[in-house]
Amino acid sequence: MGVYETILRRRSIRRFKNIEVAYEILEKCVNAARLAPSGKNLQPWEFVIVDREDLLRQVFSTLGWASYIEPRGNPPPGEEPKAYIAILANRNIDSKWLEYDIGMAVENIILTALEQGVGACPLANVNRDRLKQILNIPDTHSITLVVALGYPKESPIAEEFTNSIKYWKDEMNTLHVPKRKLADVLHRNSYGQH
Ligand SMILES: Cc1cc2nc3c(=O)[nH]c(=O)nc-3n(C[C@H](O)[C@H](O)[C@H](O)COP(=O)(O)O)c2cc1C
Repeated sequence: MGVYETILRRRSIRRFKNIEVAYEILEKCVNAARLAPSGKNLQPWEFVIVDREDLLRQVFSTLGWASYIEPRGNPPPGEEPKAYIAILANRNIDSKWLEYDIGMAVENIILTALEQGVGACPLANVNRDRLKQILNIPDTHSITLVVALGYPKESPIAEEFTNSIKYWKDEMNTLHVPKRKLADVLHRNSYGQH
């Protein structure tokens, strides 16, 4: 699968099969993340892979899912993520562009995972104080986003935006995700021109 095709296929996944994700795949995701573009090349990031069963449960309890459709978007029991990558910011490195850097690193993680058939969901809704304790994160580092990972047990569908950006679930429990139309976000040479 090429990069563009992977991007088109990617949707955030919140229901996962009960199959472990090999550590090598998770490590590959972090390797892709550390090679992402970084403002001033400061690379203010570090990554914690979580794949231990007892920790998976604890990390799960710090996360909030799909707020527009709460609680229908939560991973149901038995369909929780099989791994996490917590993205840390090293506060000893003073970057003005931290959030851009993290975004790029996270997308590298998600696309690398999907290339291996592994689905992912980035999460900002995280109880960071509790997660820092669970993962023994030092005070010099903060938690930015967490990426939940596992083999997908759902196939969300991208829909053409009509009047709302809110995703929804239909009666079959399929998630539909509105995306703004290309013509509505693309301008050529001058704003408003196509
Ligand atoms: C910065 C950021 C934070 C997000 N935080 C959460 C979150 O806390 N919980 C969640 O379930 N999804 C979260 N998401 C996933 C979004 O809900 C999802 O990307 C959006 O609905 C579009 O769907 P798609 O990823 O399938 O295209 C987050 C995505 C981004 C980029």
